[in-house]
Amino acid sequence: MSENNIFNYENGRFFKWTAFLITASLIAYIFDTPSIKPYGGTWLGYTLGTIGAVLILWLIMFGVRKRAYGSNLGTVRGWLSGHVYLGLSLIVVATLHTGFEFGWNVHTLAYTLMMVVIASGVWGVVVYFKNPTLMGRSLHGQTLEDIAKSMRDLDKQCRNLLPQASPAAAQLVEESSNVEVFSSGLQRFTGNNPGCATSRVVEQMSKSASASSAGPDQEIYLMQVKKQQILKRLRNYIRLRTFVELWLLFHVPLSFALLATLTAHIVSVFFYW
Ligand code: HEM
Repeated sequence: MSENNIFNYENGRFFKWTAFLITASLIAYIFDTPSIKPYGGTWLGYTLGTIGAVLILWLIMFGVRKRAYGSNLGTVRGWLSGHVYLGLSLIVVATLHTGFEFGWNVHTLAYTLMMVVIASGVWGVVVYFKNPTLMGRSLHGQTLEDIAKSMRDLDKQCRNLLPQASPAAAQLVEESSNVEVFSSGLQRFTGNNPGCATSRVVEQMSKSASASSAGPDQEIYLMQVKKQQILKRLRNYIRLRTFVELWLLFHVPLSFALLATLTAHIVSVFFYW
């Protein structure tokens, strides 16, 4: 994790804002004396509801900021830090807004959807925290194109050695150059390709005597081992990105379902006013 990660961004700026918002909401709730009971329709209920709705709109705007590459409205990392902390503050702000009045209605549906979106957000942060490399679109500073190129370069170097290598090596190098990262879509979830041509070639060469004695066959063998390691890292990276994309498939559509339900909740409140 970098020094300025999403949790301690700008000396924990968003953590402090969130701590302030949660504390102020709790104090207001504790000292509030509503005429009947605490619920969304008291002055405090409306205040917390408005803060919550504005926060949700802002949280949804993160998707827009993420894609606005030329934007000077703060860094994506800063936005994400605010997104995580202020997103979590909704647990307190929105719960106090409800005054713990739940039922089978559109209001509780909006609340439930919000909690599900927040829970999915926490899950996403855990995935990112465990695998910081996923934050960028690169693997150890290399893009997927760089990695593909380094494997093609290894294949090329192996081919250049073939005139001096044993006849068996030519076929093996050819076999390995046709390797597929994954042979089926499902393998993206396991990060494994049991039919990996390069692994097969490495195994076969490791058994051959010519690969163990210094010479072109051994050089080819070592390059194939290197390629096998690159493939392993690449497969693991693609596996993790697949999980992130799958996670976003929950987080984002649920956010829009929340927006629709929140609109229905607000409209119905003013309709019955
Ligand atoms: C009601 C609350 C929330 C809403 C409406 C919401 C909505 C969104 C939206 C629209 C995006 C943009 C995704 C994209 O377009 O790529 C996003 C990203 C994200 N959200 Fe939330 N979110 C909420 C709460 C949270 C919480 C509480 C957390 C964490 C604790 C969280 C973690 C994340 C993360 C890590 C991303 C970034 C994903 C990426 O850049 O790949 N969210 N959220």
